[in-house]
Amino acid sequence: VIDIRKLYAETGHFTFDPGYTSTGSCESKITYIDGDAGVLLYRGIPIEELAEHSDFPETCYLLLNGELPTAAQKTKFERDITMHTMVHEQLATFYRGFRRDAHPMAVMCGVVGALSAFYHDSTDIHDPEQRKIASYRLIAKMPTIAAMAYKYSVGQPFMYPKNSLKYAENFLHMCFAVPCEEYVVSPTLAKAMDRIFVLHADHEQNASTSTVRLAGSSGANPFACIAAGIASLWGPAHGGANEAVLKMLDEIGHKSRIPEFVRRAKDKNDTFRLMGFGHRVYKNFDPRAKVMRQTCYEVLNELGVHDDRLELAMELEKLALEDDYFVEKKLYPNVDFYSGIILKAMGFPVSMFTALFAVARTVGWVSQWNEMIEDEGQKIGRPRQLYTGTDRRPYVPLTARG
Ligand code: ACO
Repeated sequence: VIDIRKLYAETGHFTFDPGYTSTGSCESKITYIDGDAGVLLYRGIPIEELAEHSDFPETCYLLLNGELPTAAQKTKFERDITMHTMVHEQLATFYRGFRRDAHPMAVMCGVVGALSAFYHDSTDIHDPEQRKIASYRLIAKMPTIAAMAYKYSVGQPFMYPKNSLKYAENFLHMCFAVPCEEYVVSPTLAKAMDRIFVLHADHEQNASTSTVRLAGSSGANPFACIAAGIASLWGPAHGGANEAVLKMLDEIGHKSRIPEFVRRAKDKNDTFRLMGFGHRVYKNFDPRAKVMRQTCYEVLNELGVHDDRLELAMELEKLALEDDYFVEKKLYPNVDFYSGIILKAMGFPVSMFTALFAVARTVGWVSQWNEMIEDEGQKIGRPRQLYTGTDRRPYVPLTARG
């Protein structure tokens, strides 16, 4: 047995950092977070400015290329993406193999992974052109794949993408239009959807992005790497939190029960946590949560929807932020705290929330994957471990095992 503690003592070359709380895994020029100050920049530009002035395709271009596009570059980029929005007809048959009540994230893990069996012309990761096509395919097809997962779950026919529509608009069309009726996407909802996509587009080395990088570091197929990212995103401690927030608000049910849940969240013998609170990096308000809260008001106002959950969420936020436990541990609402309320008002079932996150995060995943492959110093990701098992011992034959 190699005693890694001894190795460390002798060489000083071993770092034990479960959860990577203080280990940088790569260099990156894409996204910057200052968790203490509550700052998030995509390629140097504050998220608040992008949420207000940019749109998702432009943000994708920025993340992928490092600069905002000129008008001509933006038009070309949107056209290039639009060319790839359809999925192979054969891919539709995959859906029929799933139960109708399958979770959309389960379906997406399978279907996105299956893309690797369709696009053999974009898998030479050392060819920048092939990487570009793989990236465009993923960004373009993810809304189609997520919308198909939704349509399949409700038993409606799949809607083809309508390429005269903008990215977020087209996604809403594929989710909510039906062949027998005219459907016009509400500009308010399209704007809100687009903004949600911008807010979720990248977030440096979070669990799913690190998963994509780790999978990709072995030279694996890009579509399979993104499927791995989707699997990681699904967990309730990561992208699945927006779904968990809504379930928690429903469970709380009434303002009068909030103190009971806050008490439970502080109780170390109780596994309950306030979902949508806390973040590994932000020890201040998540800047995306502020934009999301504002968007939430706007969407509910415009739609004339009254949702008790918004009042409940605001009261919960207020009580938690006044509580010593949350103050001391610097637990603030994160991006997922308000997004579920907006998505629910838009008509999405709770199970689709994380799938929408995956649609938005795809550009972050592919940008980081491209950056990793371009980095000549990047090695295969291979963490070490601290072995705590038994020492070397002889094999005991079955007959001698008592
Ligand atoms: N409710 C109650 N207590 C909490 C919460 C919470 N939501 N989050 C953290 N804590 C407490 C922990 O119990 C721990 O207490 P201790 O020091 O007494 O042991 C302390 O705060 C630090 O928490 P960790 O779990 O060590 O922090 P970590 O950085 O590992 O986890 C995480 C961050 C996973 C986001 C955590 O805050 C959490 O589970 N939050 C709820 C789920 C959630 O909202 N996830 C979405 C994250 S954002 C995203 O992925 C888009």
